[in-house]
Amino acid sequence: MSDRPRARPAHVLILGGTADAAALAVRLAAVPGLAVTTSLAGITRWSTPIPGTVVRTGFGGAEGLARFMHERGVDRLVDATHPFAAVISRQAVDAARLAGLPLIRLERPAWQPVDGDRWIRAADTAGAAAALAAELGDRPAAVFLTIGRRGLQAFADLAAVRFVIRMVEPPDRPPPFADHTLLLDRGPFTLEGERALLAHHRIDWLVAKNSGGEAGAPKLQAAREAAVPVVMIERPAAADSAPDAAAGAPVVAPTVADVAAVLAWLGVAPLAPPAGPP
Ligand SMILES: NC(=O)c1ccc[n+]([C@@H]2O[C@H](COP(=O)([O-])OP(=O)(O)OC[C@H]3O[C@@H](n4cnc5c(N)ncnc54)[C@H](OP(=O)(O)O)[C@@H]3O)[C@@H](O)[C@H]2O)c1
Repeated sequence: MSDRPRARPAHVLILGGTADAAALAVRLAAVPGLAVTTSLAGITRWSTPIPGTVVRTGFGGAEGLARFMHERGVDRLVDATHPFAAVISRQAVDAARLAGLPLIRLERPAWQPVDGDRWIRAADTAGAAAALAAELGDRPAAVFLTIGRRGLQAFADLAAVRFVIRMVEPPDRPPPFADHTLLLDRGPFTLEGERALLAHHRIDWLVAKNSGGEAGAPKLQAAREAAVPVVMIERPAAADSAPDAAAGAPVVAPTVADVAAVLAWLGVAPLAPPAGPP
């Protein structure tokens, strides 16, 4: 693994599942002579097609990913998976080292609280549920859960809570709550829409994962304006791979915050901005 690739790449593999990964594929697919493959875990669905080759099978661990890259002639690896997808990011580090290929991690910065926010930070969903239980006691409250399909069970003991749950894909099994409203929506979410949602459901608390990025930010602003406190689930630790035998320390991928920085790393020019008025 190296963070200083030399030659122009011939085949880039993007580990996807995020809007940034899709945007990167769109740009790379337009580069003559450059092959681009995006891999998605099985459940990830996209409303718009991703250009280039798309694989949806998983690889069977780091060794499988290294083998895939060797067989397909991949010469650069971009980990553009979601900040909470820690397993695949660790596998990317190990696979890049096994294959001797350059790897870069694209990870949008985490949200930070600003004036007017009241955040309680939690390490995971269990911690978020415990924090909420400590705040609420037996008092009834309306809680807006925006944590995806997994982790709902952690909140099952909050008996007096009315839950409003928003997720992209329907859950595998019914949410474990007596009183809940399920909203299926992939966004994009507007500030007006988020304000209306908080008001309509008379939300008292918001629970969110610190995904970062603009798509999820309007709910935080709406919560701030409405003085709705937030339980913020922080990201899992950076992808610590197996210790590198030579270095004797865990190896993490060099990380950049936006698509433009990945393009620079690949030696690909950003798209020219649309021509403005003369
Ligand atoms: N976790 C979230 O909150 C979240 C939110 C939005 C989107 N996503 C996207 O959903 C996907 C799954 O997330 P997760 O948290 O379940 O992942 P994870 O726990 O980090 O990975 C679990 C397994 O899924 C496979 N996998 C994950 N991402 C893959 C990819 N891009 N291409 C090929 N295989 C992949 C790998 O299987 P093999 O070992 O068989 O290769 C990996 O071992 C990720 O691609 C992520 O970007 C996740």
